[in-house]
Amino acid sequence: MSAVKVTDRISAVSILNPAMRIFDVVMKTEYGTSYNSYIVRGDEKAALIETSHVTFFSHYVEMIKQVCDPSEIEYIVLNHCEPDHSGSLRDLLDLCPNAKICVSRAGSIYLKGITNRDDLPLVIAKDGDSIDLGGATLKFIPAPFLHWPDSMFTYCEEERTVFTCDMLGSHYCEPYIYDTAVTYPAKYFEALKGYYDAIFGPFKPYVRAGLEKLSNLDYDFACTSHGPILTRDGKLNEVLRLYNEWSAQVQGEVDIPVFYCSAYGNTEKLAQAISRGILRAKPDAKSEAIDINSVEMSVLQARLNASTAFAVGSPTINSDAVAPVWELLSHVDAINSKKRPALVFGSYGWSGEAVGNITARLNGLRMSVFEDGLKVTFVPSDEDIKNAEELGFRFASSF
Ligand code: FEO
Repeated sequence: MSAVKVTDRISAVSILNPAMRIFDVVMKTEYGTSYNSYIVRGDEKAALIETSHVTFFSHYVEMIKQVCDPSEIEYIVLNHCEPDHSGSLRDLLDLCPNAKICVSRAGSIYLKGITNRDDLPLVIAKDGDSIDLGGATLKFIPAPFLHWPDSMFTYCEEERTVFTCDMLGSHYCEPYIYDTAVTYPAKYFEALKGYYDAIFGPFKPYVRAGLEKLSNLDYDFACTSHGPILTRDGKLNEVLRLYNEWSAQVQGEVDIPVFYCSAYGNTEKLAQAISRGILRAKPDAKSEAIDINSVEMSVLQARLNASTAFAVGSPTINSDAVAPVWELLSHVDAINSKKRPALVFGSYGWSGEAVGNITARLNGLRMSVFEDGLKVTFVPSDEDIKNAEELGFRFASSF
């Protein structure tokens, strides 16, 4: 891609990566992504906002050169220091010998570890600080946990533009960078929601705070760091509405799903009995036994992380819980699951390590694991089923 003009003083120098299918190891990106970066040219100085993934460094530099000589860049603003934003910084500094790096205090600490340099020319951007480029001013607005503690927005009032970093972004890539040019809007909004759930789902109070800060700004362009640039004439208002909707506080129903895998139907029988016990204790709650292998993992992940409490069961194979159970547990929202009640169970044939191993994992997440769980050898007897139902009842009565 070539550099693209956004406003009189702002150009996008964004890398498109339509082939990407997995972001940060765990996040599926069916529609690729982009690493958006921008140059703001004032009458006197130029600033670069965000850098790019280091893999694309040479192409990225070529685009910068379409807008200005890199040596003219006097500020590199990093709204967030995750390597998809900061990865090119170290090499870029060689081409931008005059550049100072504007970053939050938290970001300054991360950058030292990311670049392995402690001589970086840092300018710590505090709330309300600004830099004057001559006819264009960049004002820094802290936006913590959107999506790391270091995150901030950068606002250019003269160009009616806010640089929102990850917020309002999407892993979505089409050849043109404006929201008005998106060819497949349904796919775009699907990608927007997937991105929101994965990146911001755990940080809803911070999303609400970020939206509040954005509502105090006058802007027509939201220059995100991934996906299309959002415009008032395009999808910006709808995306803001969706973010407000998705991050709203809701008084939801009590949901206590019972996840399980079962090799021969024995752990499944325990799951069903536990769910019956849960519903006996809390008749108005939602609870059912869910075979992990029968439901899309992203759906299970969302259900688990939105649950009031949950139970999880596995047979023991190779002295451990089975892989689908571990995959589900790898998606637990570690930030918001502290003290979430959890119950562990499973049928086994010989050694039965699954329950202990899952319990150790959930304790490591600082969840509130109920009693010692339930282990049953081979086929549950009538008494085992009765015990499982009673366990479910005690579990659901405990919170
Ligand atoms: Fe786009 Fe949180 O990195």
